[in-house]
Amino acid sequence: MSKKRFVNVGTGGRCEMFIDAITGAYKDSAELVGLCDINMGRAELRQRQLKEKGIEVPIYHSDKFDQMVDEQKPDSVIVTTKDCFHHKYICRAMELGCDAITEKPMTIDQDKCQQIVDTINKTGKDLRVTFNYRYSPSHTQVKRLLRDGVIGKILSVDFAWNLDVHHGADYYRRWHRHKANSGGLLVHKATHHFDLLNWWICSSPETVVALGRRAFYIPETADRLGLNKRTERCRTCPHRQDGSCNFALDLSSSKDLKELYLDQEHHDGYFRDRCVFSPDIDIEDSMNLVVRYVSGVHMSYCLNSFLPWEGFRVMFNGTSGRLEYQGLESPYISGDGTVPGERIEEKSHIHVYPQFADPYNIELETGSGGHGGGDTRLLDDVLGERREDPLNHAAGVAEGCWSILTGVSANISMAGGGQPVYTPGLVSGIPEANFGEVPQ
Ligand SMILES: NC(=O)c1ccc[n+]([C@@H]2O[C@H](COP(=O)([O-])OP(=O)(O)OC[C@H]3O[C@@H](n4cnc5c(N)ncnc54)[C@H](O)[C@@H]3O)[C@@H](O)[C@H]2O)c1
Repeated sequence: MSKKRFVNVGTGGRCEMFIDAITGAYKDSAELVGLCDINMGRAELRQRQLKEKGIEVPIYHSDKFDQMVDEQKPDSVIVTTKDCFHHKYICRAMELGCDAITEKPMTIDQDKCQQIVDTINKTGKDLRVTFNYRYSPSHTQVKRLLRDGVIGKILSVDFAWNLDVHHGADYYRRWHRHKANSGGLLVHKATHHFDLLNWWICSSPETVVALGRRAFYIPETADRLGLNKRTERCRTCPHRQDGSCNFALDLSSSKDLKELYLDQEHHDGYFRDRCVFSPDIDIEDSMNLVVRYVSGVHMSYCLNSFLPWEGFRVMFNGTSGRLEYQGLESPYISGDGTVPGERIEEKSHIHVYPQFADPYNIELETGSGGHGGGDTRLLDDVLGERREDPLNHAAGVAEGCWSILTGVSANISMAGGGQPVYTPGLVSGIPEANFGEVPQ
């Protein structure tokens, strides 16, 4: 059997999961034939790391992307750049005859989303969006319970996601802190949550109303904490040096952070440790939404990124009961070498409250590894042999679109002071989504 050929564009923190899998567990069926980045220092680091394992992979600057595809003839391009460039590489890969696999969010606004949809409709190429959260065993379990009608037909949902002062704060240090790069957290992060919700209730957003603001990661908070001598970044900040700032990040404290970011910043000026209280941040940290779905379900959702614990609470209200699902995740800093978002099992649960009967607990199905055990199962689905998928885990362009369009609508709503936005009017030609059997 010939091996499937992959190239990767965007050689930062996230690409490691794909590179390790292709050159490790899936090496008999997959081959990494090129790496590409705008920062050649980071690409060279990845090349060196592979060479130490005896694997030779050519590297290309991002302005040589076409040349890489021409020379290496990949079947599929894996896109792990910063979010605002996903559409560029997805579309170009397809125009050059490749399929694409993209990290979430598929893209950050309706115009880029339209470009992706148009390119797929024109080229007929395939896009996979890697929603690892769907593959976390307990998220899958909730999908199955709802599909099997444990609470009847779902009428409404309360959904709250907390980001903590480790992982949550990290978004304000990096490129994510600007909407032009990430679409803000309602796109960059909540694409996971809105995708889960679409998949759980088997529907897509119809109308979105949102309010949001940045209320914590602001200069006034730092002043209140007595952090009055702050500089542009932690590296030069006296509050990191004297230990007075709980939000300080020392890039030289971790081998991974140092090699990946600190040692490469002279190539492009990407500082990974900017002050989380900078006035020039333009993303929100507190967001509230009301969403009506095409199926008639109503959802209230909130996202806050400055909290003492990280995880979620989601409550489904159905015609015959209520299901409450809570998950706590381990604190981490993206790219520091630790496992991201491990589930804290003893603080996670599923409770079912039937109407007119006693409530009961359902034992949580668990998995180990990144993102509640979702990363490993996702990789198996994307890189392994095709298997039966009765719960429709695999997400393509349609699911990628609907996962971002709730957040994109929310951004429009917030910019207009909270006016309702009709989501299906934003992008045309989206293929039919396949969320599976509707819970009855
Ligand atoms: N599914 C998940 O759980 C998960 C987790 C982490 C990150 N991600 C996603 O992975 C992507 C990468 O995130 P990350 O944490 O690795 O960020 P990162 O900053 O570590 O890496 C981004 C890389 O993209 C490169 N890049 C930037 N602009 C480019 C361009 N124009 N052309 C080519 N390369 C360019 C940067 O130099 C860098 O190497 C993001 O889209 C993020 O949302 C997903």
